[in-house]
Amino acid sequence: VEKFPGYNRNHRFKKLTDDDVSYFESIVGKRGYICNVDELSPYNIDWMNKFRGQSPLVLLPRNTQQISDILQYCNEQKLAVVPQGGNTSLAGGSVPIFDEIILSMRHMNRIRSFDNVSGILTADAGCILEVLDNWLAEKGYMMPLDLAAKGSCQIGGNIATNAGGLRLLRYGSLHGSVLGLEVVLPNGTVLNNMSTLRKDNTGFDLKQLFIGSEGTIGIITGVSILTPLRSKAVNVAMLGLNSFEDVQDAFKHARLELSEILSAFEFWDNQSFQIYKKHFPYKDIMTKDYPFYILIETSGSNKRHDDEKLTDYLGQMMNNGIAQDGVVAQDQKQIKDLWDVRDGLTGALGKEPAVYKYDISIPVANIWHCAQDMRHHLCMGGVFGEKDSPVTDVVAYGHIGDGNVHLNIVTKDLDTRVSDLIEPYLFEWVAKHQGSISAEHGLGVAKNEFLGYSKTPEMIELMKTLKNILDPNGILNPYKYLPQT
Ligand code: FAD
Ligand code: MLT
Ligand code: ZN
Repeated sequence: VEKFPGYNRNHRFKKLTDDDVSYFESIVGKRGYICNVDELSPYNIDWMNKFRGQSPLVLLPRNTQQISDILQYCNEQKLAVVPQGGNTSLAGGSVPIFDEIILSMRHMNRIRSFDNVSGILTADAGCILEVLDNWLAEKGYMMPLDLAAKGSCQIGGNIATNAGGLRLLRYGSLHGSVLGLEVVLPNGTVLNNMSTLRKDNTGFDLKQLFIGSEGTIGIITGVSILTPLRSKAVNVAMLGLNSFEDVQDAFKHARLELSEILSAFEFWDNQSFQIYKKHFPYKDIMTKDYPFYILIETSGSNKRHDDEKLTDYLGQMMNNGIAQDGVVAQDQKQIKDLWDVRDGLTGALGKEPAVYKYDISIPVANIWHCAQDMRHHLCMGGVFGEKDSPVTDVVAYGHIGDGNVHLNIVTKDLDTRVSDLIEPYLFEWVAKHQGSISAEHGLGVAKNEFLGYSKTPEMIELMKTLKNILDPNGILNPYKYLPQT
């Protein structure tokens, strides 16, 4: 478990007392909170097993009014609070740093309404993404985002992190598909902006401020979201390629040839694939190894039309030597098998002794330069001797269509010699190439001190001003998101 970056507990915050717990019990009832040490543990530790807090209390409210009452009290008493969704954050955002109270959204899980004509869904923020998607499937619709953590992450957590995922290429960012939010402000005020309108030009679009705010200025309790129709015809293909130039060419052609039916274009390098194969059973989808792999998904309304388009595209890829090998899923099971490889990369890396994860946006052409440069910097830069190097791998995968690469540095153990070499080196590299140091995972406590590599001092000042206006006592998700030093 990594140490938090040298912060001290802020003495402004009160320490929890028995009286506070009794007060909370009067709001959420006897079964609405946890203070038993063993049961607290999974809430205090993050998905990566990297960040651990010591909260003595988890609150499990069941409705917006309870959350409002809790926050009003915490604000008056200066008790710090961490909102927690599915606890799948990859930036250490969802766990406390010290003894902040954890406000878990897991019992806020009611679907509120669905309009079968417009596809607009309203739901509690604690609904699990996959549960919503399965519910919509029965009505012929789907959620506009998909990610490998779908079985645990919540729609409120997705919105709080502005999660991207595997189909952003097709359905766009949550800044477009979220139509309204219900939010409880740090002082307990309920902001009801549950609009179900696609068009609404009446004043500042306040909901946008909360999308990607990582639980620092309000707790999202309700969501109104535009959901697309579920496509009748879905195809998935996986190709093996020789170079990153070929990956880019394959993408350019996919946009041109598959255009309106293209719904995902993902890539991973052979190094990632080897780690996947080491940890998960793999039934030779392809017999040989290639330096790069892509997964292409098409979604449309006419299977014959889509098959024809995909066959033409794949033929071109093979004939002009852009792809070396490829498979097309023949049924639902094979579609799942191919997606399992892409979805399983994060889990496979999680089984390695230690991983430093980076999630950056840069112009697509630079994605591979970045990985190569990092390999050279860490492994071949002569800092560590060949035999003693704590770095065992540098791997890259991600969302080509979004210019978003996940660079993962695998090490024998968490080792400050490695992290000191990566940071701020990588962030300087990203800034020099006009990129973002956090494309989709958020800042949390892993990236907040480096915000200046992606935002100007004036922008950071304005962010701090907004935080102070909305949360003058600083009780919501303290020590995170904004630079503290
Ligand atoms: P949590 O992890 O619980 O919280 C995340 C942040 O949001 C915290 O700061 C928390 O305080 C805040 N928060 C949570 N709920 C609320 C709320 N209701 N109101 C206010 N603040 C709240 N991310 C991507 O973008 N794309 C991917 O493809 C992707 N793939 C992943 C795959 C795996 C296997 C894993 C483990 C993670 C992946 N992630 C991905 C990261 C993570 O799943 C997302 O960030 C997700 O949106 C977090 O949702 P959550 O409910 O787990 O939130
Ligand atoms: C992904 O695209 O797989 C996710 O963002 C998670 C990760 O970076 O490992
Ligand atoms: Zn991703």
